[in-house]
Amino acid sequence: MEYKVLPNQLKIPMIGMGTYPLKGRHLIDALKFAGSAGYELYDTAHMYGNEGDIGFAIQNNILDRNKILITSKICATQYLGHRRYLHLDKQSVSRAYKNSCKLLGVDSIDIFLLHSPFKYNTKAYQELISLYDKGKVKAIGVSNFNQEQLDTLYKEVGGIPMINQIEIHPYNTMEDIIQYCNDRGIVVEAYSPFGRGNILPEIMNNETLIQFAQQHNKSVGQIILRWLVQQDIITVVRSSNPKRIQENLEIFDFSLTDEQMKYISSLNQNKGYGKHFQ
Ligand SMILES: NC(=O)c1ccc[n+]([C@@H]2O[C@H](COP(=O)([O-])OP(=O)(O)OC[C@H]3O[C@@H](n4cnc5c(N)ncnc54)[C@H](OP(=O)(O)O)[C@@H]3O)[C@@H](O)[C@H]2O)c1
Repeated sequence: MEYKVLPNQLKIPMIGMGTYPLKGRHLIDALKFAGSAGYELYDTAHMYGNEGDIGFAIQNNILDRNKILITSKICATQYLGHRRYLHLDKQSVSRAYKNSCKLLGVDSIDIFLLHSPFKYNTKAYQELISLYDKGKVKAIGVSNFNQEQLDTLYKEVGGIPMINQIEIHPYNTMEDIIQYCNDRGIVVEAYSPFGRGNILPEIMNNETLIQFAQQHNKSVGQIILRWLVQQDIITVVRSSNPKRIQENLEIFDFSLTDEQMKYISSLNQNKGYGKHFQ
């Protein structure tokens, strides 16, 4: 495994296990495989409704809490409750945090993110900073934020998020926001590295990508994950298949050439599902 080290010395694995939309027995089985394969980063969110299943895996020693980092996220409806447009309850980030900790059966969550931009980003982020300052989380950040939203956050809060988790895959390369984040020291984390819906089979059947995979004796999935980590992007990827869970970690023993990197980036069509957040 390779790691990205935050300025506060937190070491984040470059590949993490995604959990959405897995739940129940299906998720527990995937976590068993991921735990034995050696995943050290697990990505969940209150919205996924599976924090309790991850908690079950920790309590039953399927995952070793001491060896893993857990990311969870707070969503707008959780933050604002049902009365989402009424006056904000200033305690709600810490309440959401406690609730997620309870479901996960842990004393603390390692990385806590705002799941997507919403009307009260700034207040919510200030509360996240307060959680961080109290030592309750090791890193805080956002997800699905574009440049404008990050700029606003910076202007209003006076600080930058440590992490921005966004949808990046060959059809949605997000070069501008990656550059923006790199310039400001915001760590970029990719989700949905293979795209959603029809994008996944299209990418997997791309003949040039299949050729790259053959040249490196890897799968197309591994080529895409390598393209991401070679850009220094932490990536969360989800599989429930034991073979693919294992292979998604085996991307640190080869490198793509500059031409291969450029070709994959040239597939961009700005086709991001996460755009609906922006
Ligand atoms: N912050 C956000 O708003 C947000 C949004 C979406 C997702 N996420 C997070 O990001 C994680 C990953 O994204 P995702 O689950 O949307 O998509 P993904 O990881 O890009 O794709 C998952 C799909 O790829 C298949 N797959 C996995 N490894 C493969 C390989 N090596 N070769 C071929 N196919 C492979 C899986 O099938 P098998 O199971 O059959 O292998 C599954 O159908 C989520 O689970 C979630 O934790 C965050």
